Amino acid sequence: MSETVLLVGGGGREHAIARALANSAADLYACAGNRNPGIARLAEGVETLDTTNPVAVRSYAQEVGATLAVIGPEAPLQAGVADALDEAGVYAFGPQQAEARIETDKGFQRRFMAEHSIPGCPDFEEFRDAEAACEYIDAYDGDLAVKPAGLTGGKGVRVIGDQVTAEEAKAYIRESDYDRIVLEERLVGEEFTVQAFVADGDVRVTPAVQDHKRAYEGDEGPNTGGMGSYSDAALALPFMDESDYTDAVDIIQETVHALDGYKGVLYGQFMLTAGGVTVVEFNARFGDPEAMNTLPVLTTDFLDVLVAARDGEPLPRLRFERQATVCKYAVPEGYPTDPESGARVAIDEESAGEALLYYASVDEREDGVYTTTSRSFAVVGVGDSITEAESIAEKALSAAGEEGLRMRHDIGKPDLVQRRVDHVAELRGE
Ligand code: AMP
Ligand code: GLY
Repeated sequence: MSETVLLVGGGGREHAIARALANSAADLYACAGNRNPGIARLAEGVETLDTTNPVAVRSYAQEVGATLAVIGPEAPLQAGVADALDEAGVYAFGPQQAEARIETDKGFQRRFMAEHSIPGCPDFEEFRDAEAACEYIDAYDGDLAVKPAGLTGGKGVRVIGDQVTAEEAKAYIRESDYDRIVLEERLVGEEFTVQAFVADGDVRVTPAVQDHKRAYEGDEGPNTGGMGSYSDAALALPFMDESDYTDAVDIIQETVHALDGYKGVLYGQFMLTAGGVTVVEFNARFGDPEAMNTLPVLTTDFLDVLVAARDGEPLPRLRFERQATVCKYAVPEGYPTDPESGARVAIDEESAGEALLYYASVDEREDGVYTTTSRSFAVVGVGDSITEAESIAEKALSAAGEEGLRMRHDIGKPDLVQRRVDHVAELRGE
């Protein structure tokens, strides 16, 4: 039977999902707040709507006769879009609102880990009162990370001793009026992501990826949604041992079992510290950019995963090409603090050459594609090694030019990768 899949979301991650489904026997429809030209070219139909409005998404799903849905971003999950689709008989590959709290409520996430004795949980405390949080900072022996409990697009965390001083952290807590703040032990090490497909208690993991959250080269500047990422031709990254990867997978597995009824992608963000693998956070969806590293090398039909999940069948074993990937985002000048929109995007899927091009928050007008105030597009190189993948991505970026854009050229370069390896060796006292 042929399937009609509704894709919710219009960023780079969703363009990667659309491309994975374009290779399958699926009729694809998509809805998002923006019109992503890459997705529009792959889909039978696209609709611009507010994806945090469950009624609007459900109506569109019913209008196009969707038999399945994939939800890309976190905001619709938080809004209960999966619940609305499931109720209407359109299986949503994405958790319902209650399960999505593993991402959307960082206080819940930490309490959940503690209650279920899931390994890798840092020391933490949650506060509703700003002054009580500030007192805790004063009294705490060591550095803390300040995390708003709700969603902030990856931009809300302030780490004492890294980005801010204790005094700046307290000023941040007092000035911003977040309802709840989580304070947790600062983790020092190298971060990595492992994403898993989950349904009916089945967990199928994908290769580790390292994202780069800082805006500028050399890991300087403010946090962003992610400037680019790489994966190796193996499951682990060069700075990890295979056992670090296995530890992360065990944590994901324990979390899924404790969650009971979770479906969709569970994304674990880990810190490889001197003491081992620790959880920075969980997300209830693919990462953006990490989906652009994972899906292009997945040789298992993504539609088969979705159909098995819906039908309560065991999820298929995943197969990946043994290839490394490097993804680099081009963002508007001034991003993330003071982004300037309106630059013309001078690259398309053809001129990207050997690299894959994924559109993100761009605006397609009659005379071309223009930047908005969020990440614009990403290029992905796939090669035998990280170095080879990196040069493929760089070649595409030079075809794109830098007018009105900014990118981190250092992502995936041998120097930066080696720095990660040296960092972990130093932490382990090697
Ligand atoms: P999150 O929104 O939880 O992904 O946090 C964004 C970024 O803040 C993470 O990718 C880390 O770089 C950093 N971060 C979060 N929690 C901690 C922590 N406990 N220690 C150190 N850095 C952290
Ligand atoms: N790349 C981080 C995220 O998707 O949250």
